[in-house]
Amino acid sequence: MEANTILKDRKALITGASGGLGAAIAKELASQGCRLFLTGRDRQRLAVTANAVKTIAPSVHEHVADLANVASLEAMAVQVLETIGPIDLLVNCAGIFPVHPLEQCTMEEYDQCLAVNVRAPFYLIRKFAPLMAKRGWGRIVNIGSSSAYAGFRDTAIYCASKHALLGLSRSLSHELKGQRVRVYCLSPGSVQTEMGRHVPGQLFETFLRPDEVAHYLAFIIAFDAELISEEVRLNRMVVQ
Ligand SMILES: NC(=O)c1ccc[n+]([C@@H]2O[C@H](COP(=O)([O-])OP(=O)(O)OC[C@H]3O[C@@H](n4cnc5c(N)ncnc54)[C@H](OP(=O)(O)O)[C@@H]3O)[C@@H](O)[C@H]2O)c1
Repeated sequence: MEANTILKDRKALITGASGGLGAAIAKELASQGCRLFLTGRDRQRLAVTANAVKTIAPSVHEHVADLANVASLEAMAVQVLETIGPIDLLVNCAGIFPVHPLEQCTMEEYDQCLAVNVRAPFYLIRKFAPLMAKRGWGRIVNIGSSSAYAGFRDTAIYCASKHALLGLSRSLSHELKGQRVRVYCLSPGSVQTEMGRHVPGQLFETFLRPDEVAHYLAFIIAFDAELISEEVRLNRMVVQ
């Protein structure tokens, strides 16, 4: 098992790279020697991540896409193939976190959340997993949440989306492992990112650090023996 070098020169697509956790994952995978294709919706924030990553590893491409928009999603996937070719790693990190009581939830918000948090990962897995299978090696990481395992008030849409993402991961993990493509659902509790600032009723300073989550992600996907931790929950030692 070559846990320290297995990620070197692997080609990785990371969604949500303009966000706090996605940026940390990009830096971690760059430090492991991966070649990166980063996507996000906000051009400026994506450029900040890309520039930071370029100081670690030179092979970084960036592409602005709205994952809730199927045409934009498809165009991004085409761009990946034209720019770096078939990928070895897919990290589905983009997500949105609506926080409202039921009576303030809208159907538009439901559709948007499910489109970003579940439909886009499904689309990207369907697009890229067969190419990984063809090459006999692949890693797909879906970023879940503690909300994939429990219900919390005022976040019904988000909880529904993360439960769905966990179901997708569980099913595809079984389906794809015979083809040497490993599917993981990595589910952190609250993380110190912009999204984490909207978590009600808890101390932000006690949340998980994005770099720590990213480091753990690299650790589990680099493990290449006949064992897989396909479902991982990451929690704080102390909750306040
Ligand atoms: N923070 C937490 O407490 C926490 C806890 C558990 C799980 N998570 C999960 O961790 C993942 C990353 O979240 P984060 O904490 O890093 O939050 P964040 O800083 O708010 O980042 C969210 C990312 O998702 C992207 N995104 C949202 N809507 C998009 C769309 N329509 N098209 C393309 N990209 C879109 C954002 O892009 P732009 O910024 O460019 O718009 C951003 O890159 C999410 O899946 C989240 O559910 C977070």
